[in-house]
Order: sequence, then structure tokens, then C-alpha cells
Amino acid sequence: MNRISVFIVLLFISLASAGLSACGTSGCPTGGIWSDWTVTGNTNCSTSCGSCSSLYYTRICISELAGCNCTGDTSRYIPCNTDVCAYPSQKSCCTPYVPMVIDGSYICGPIPVDKSSSTTSCCPTGGLLSDWSLYGRNDENTAWIRTRECLTTDVGCACTDNLIETSTACPCPTTLVDLTDTSCNTVNYAEAYYSNIVVNDTKCEATFSMQASNYTNSGNSEKYIYCGHDGNYTSSGTPIILFQISPNETKATTCQFDRPFDCGAISTESTAHPTVPISFTCDLEALTWQYDYNGWHVTGYNQAMILYD
Ligand SMILES: *[C@@H]1O[C@H](CO)[C@@H](O)[C@H](O)[C@H]1NC(C)=O
Ligand SMILES: *[C@@H]1O[C@H](CO)[C@@H](O)[C@H](O)[C@H]1NC(C)=O
Ligand SMILES: *[C@@H]1O[C@H](CO)[C@@H](O)[C@H](O)[C@H]1NC(C)=O
Ligand SMILES: *[C@@H]1O[C@H](CO)[C@@H](O)[C@H](O)[C@H]1NC(C)=O
Ligand SMILES: *[C@@H]1O[C@H](CO)[C@@H](O)[C@H](O)[C@H]1NC(C)=O
Ligand SMILES: *[C@@H]1O[C@H](CO)[C@@H](O)[C@H](O)[C@H]1NC(C)=O
Repeated sequence: MNRISVFIVLLFISLASAGLSACGTSGCPTGGIWSDWTVTGNTNCSTSCGSCSSLYYTRICISELAGCNCTGDTSRYIPCNTDVCAYPSQKSCCTPYVPMVIDGSYICGPIPVDKSSSTTSCCPTGGLLSDWSLYGRNDENTAWIRTRECLTTDVGCACTDNLIETSTACPCPTTLVDLTDTSCNTVNYAEAYYSNIVVNDTKCEATFSMQASNYTNSGNSEKYIYCGHDGNYTSSGTPIILFQISPNETKATTCQFDRPFDCGAISTESTAHPTVPISFTCDLEALTWQYDYNGWHVTGYNQAMILYD
């Protein structure tokens, strides 16, 4: 379960209320904010009377989602079927419980006080917020949307920041870093060109067309890379795409390259500028572009060429 679904599960819990003053500067309410206790695992009481068995209860620290840890137990046993056993049972209550009157009925007690409500005594500044949900399309399919929840509404502490964020643009970065500045020159390349990517904001896909040429032209105005430098398609020069890999991806070096062209294979093509479509898809969880061919998360790229490979 991710954090949001945990939160949704928690929606039906009720918490103590209201009229709280602001917490100190730390923002976290003292003791954190707990969910109610809920029976966990076996919900059947194995005995019918006398507080002779118990059920397992757990609770969740709601405010931990917002970085505020709770103090106190996360689990406890509470006796079940607490009615006093009727004659001819051997005993009326199981140890350590004894018959007593609570709320006008005889039960086997004492039953631990249900400290189910939150221990918070003050409102954290601005309220406590859950993490953002993943981006998804809105119902009208017109925009990207993500939401978060105010965790402290039920304890009477409103949140001040937005709970919803909408964007018609794909939430991945609008541009990838242009590596023509040789910042990724860990391979010996030449003739780097940055070819502007076209982003489809509906699909969250970014594409450009990588173009190879048989020209020996090395003028930087040409937005393509040549296969071969002798006027034909040989492997004496290999077009590559350089990538700057997202720091979140475990790789030995942040600069990697791929060879979308097989210059040998296109040597018989009559077209002077064969192309290879290059595409990236936005990873909505990492909010980083992913190179579709092999799934690398990339933050920058350019087209380049390795000479005399
Ligand atoms: C609980 O008891 C009921 C009735 O005896 C039974 O139908 C049910 O399967 C039991 N549930 C579990 C989880 O043991
Ligand atoms: C909160 O609890 C987590 C998990 O037990 C722990 O890793 C973290 O350091 C705690 N944070 C604070 C501020 O105490
Ligand atoms: C973007 O992709 C969608 C879905 O495939 C398509 O309908 C739309 O025409 C594309 N937009 C552009 C500008 O290419
Ligand atoms: C094309 O490449 C081949 C192999 O490298 C070479 O022998 C030939 O001379 C080249 N053709 C031209 C026109 O340069
Ligand atoms: C190289 O490009 C020129 C000009 O577009 C074209 O006429 C020629 O056929 C191409 N050569 C090869 C080997 O594809
Ligand atoms: C790395 O991952 C974190 C957490 O998912 C994210 O906030 C951050 O934007 C990522 N950085 C990059 C460069 O993708």
C-alpha cells in the first residue's frame, strides 16, 4: 500500500476535536496524531464471556506522513466478550479481571481506558499534509492533476496550502539539459548538436528525430550527424546520443550514450538523411524523462558522434 492508500484507509477514523491553540515553532503536535484503534487480524473472540480472551488492536501514526512522529504504543490487546460468565461456569471472570458494574452492567473488568483519540493539544502551523499523489489526468482529460490531503482536518486544524495542483503541461521538466557544452564529454565525441524536443503534453511524451547524413559538412548549422566522413555511410563515424543520467538512477557514471544508428546497415540507403525517431516518456513517479529504448531516466542529452570508433 502506498502512503495515499494508507491515508484513504484512515479516512473513516474519527479523531478528537477542536478548539486547539497553535503549537510552538516546531510545527509538530506533541505526541503526534494517532488514528483510532482498529481490530487487526482475527476479529472473532475465541471465548464467549469473562474477558477470557482478547483481540489485537493497532493504530497508525497519521502525522508521520507529514514528518511528525507519534509517541505511544502502536498495538495493544483488549479483552473481548467481557460479560460475566453465568452459572454453572467454574468462574465468573478470568484472571486478572473481576466482576464490576460499568455503565449499569456487570462486566469483567477493569477494561483499559480507550485512549483512542489523538493526543494532540495544539494545531501545527499550516496543518499537516500528506505527500502528493501521483499525477494523473483529470476527469475531463484536459490537464494533469495531483492531490494531497490535509491530515489534521479531523482534529480541527485546517491546512493553509493547496490540496490540489493542476497543470496543462506534462509535469516532467519542459527541457532537458543541453549537453553541447561538453559537460558530459566523458566519451571522445565531436559535432554535438542539441535538437529541440517536442513535448506532447497529453501523452507526456517527448520526441525528436535524429538525423544522419553522408555529408562531410561539419558546420554547426546542420542539425544532423553524419555516418562516415568520406562521403558515404561507413562506420568511420558513429552517431550517438549522449545522456546525462538522473542522479536517482544507480550508474557508475552520470554520462551514458546510445547508438540509435547502425551506419553499416544504412550504407545502401539512397536517402541522404536517414532518421531515427527518439522518444522519451515522463515517469510520473520520479517526474523525470525516461528514454523509451532502454528506460534510462535522463536529465539531459545531445546528439553527437564518435569519430573513428
Ligand atoms: C468468525 O466467526 C464466524 C461465526 O462463527 C465465522 O463465520 C467466521 O468465519 C469467523 N471468522 C474468522 C476470521 O475466524
Ligand atoms: C521518526 O520515526 C522514523 C521511523 O521510526 C525515524 O526514522 C525518524 O528518524 C523519526 N524522526 C524523528 C524526527 O524523530
Ligand atoms: C498528443 O498525443 C495525443 C494522444 O496520442 C494525440 O491525440 C495528439 O494529437 C498529440 N498531440 C500532438 C500535438 O501531437
Ligand atoms: C566509402 O568508404 C569506403 C570504406 O571506408 C572507402 O573505401 C571509400 O573510398 C569511400 N568512398 C568515398 C567516395 O570516399
Ligand atoms: C549522399 O548524399 C547525396 C546528397 O543528398 C546523395 O546524392 C548521395 O546519393 C548520398 N550517398 C549515399 C552513399 O547515400
Ligand atoms: C529524485 O527522486 C526524488 C524523489 O522521488 C524526486 O523528488 C527528485 O525530483 C528526483 N530527481 C531527479 C533529478 O529526477
